[in-house]
Amino acid sequence: MNAVTNCKVEANVASAVRPILEVRDVHKVFGGVRALNGLSLSIAEGEIHCVLGPNGAGKSTFFKMLMGTERPTMGKILYKGRDVTRMPSFGRARLGLSVKFQNMRVFGDLTVFQNLFIPLRRSYRAHQIPERVEALLSQVGLQGNAQRLVRELSHGQQQWLAIAMSMASDPEILLLDEPTAGMSVEESTKTAAIIHELNAQKVTIIVIEHDMAFIRALSARTSVLHYGQLFAQSSFDEIAANPDVRRIYLGTL
Ligand SMILES: Nc1ncnc2c1ncn2[C@@H]1O[C@H](COP(=O)(O)OP(=O)(O)OP(=O)(O)O)[C@@H](O)[C@H]1O
Ligand SMILES: [Mg+2]
Repeated sequence: MNAVTNCKVEANVASAVRPILEVRDVHKVFGGVRALNGLSLSIAEGEIHCVLGPNGAGKSTFFKMLMGTERPTMGKILYKGRDVTRMPSFGRARLGLSVKFQNMRVFGDLTVFQNLFIPLRRSYRAHQIPERVEALLSQVGLQGNAQRLVRELSHGQQQWLAIAMSMASDPEILLLDEPTAGMSVEESTKTAAIIHELNAQKVTIIVIEHDMAFIRALSARTSVLHYGQLFAQSSFDEIAANPDVRRIYLGTL
């Protein structure tokens, strides 16, 4: 059985809330590789939405389509009902989208303050920045660390700083690609709390992850991608109990 049948019910629930983002029948071919193969997915305003799928399923490509760093070969991307398929990344950032890609770099030889100063400079005047830095740091549990050199922070703290940098533009939607990669269990738990806190401040958050304990802690609507398509969409508990999803993770489908 293709678990997409579950999606109809969930899609109806989601459509009760205004979709903030919609991906409609998106295809992306890189050379000969079909990274996305007719992906359709809708994100409701104000939700946390998790995206799962085996390696190579098209998850990061999905984010590149949303952010506009790559264009679809076919299909449409809508932001609050507006077609942004051909809009460049900076235009989408201005509309309220922000992303922390996999392996996002922070500058180890600079202080935490200096790392945040760079993205904040685009939206704020110099005298407003110290206050914004402290506000962002407290959102990610790093208050009081502004003058520390980034290379002296733990891996988890550096990742939270990267999240704070992605929040510098006050986005409406934050895309996080594997935010807990390389983190300890304790750091992952804290990351889930940070995401809940940001979401409580009305930020819609889409999270790509493999870490099941972390996704369980987020307890969010979850989409599973497989071969560049939506394979299943449901609550995390239903997804975790879905034998078809278990099978694709084990590589037997
Ligand atoms: N720029 C590119 N050029 C060629 N192939 C690409 C490119 N980007 C992605 N691909 C291919 O497209 C497919 C989907 O890649 P993508 O990075 O979206 O997967 P993913 O679901 O994020 O995987 P992972 O869990 O490993 O991060 C893969 O087969 C990948 O090798
Ligand atoms: Mg990826």
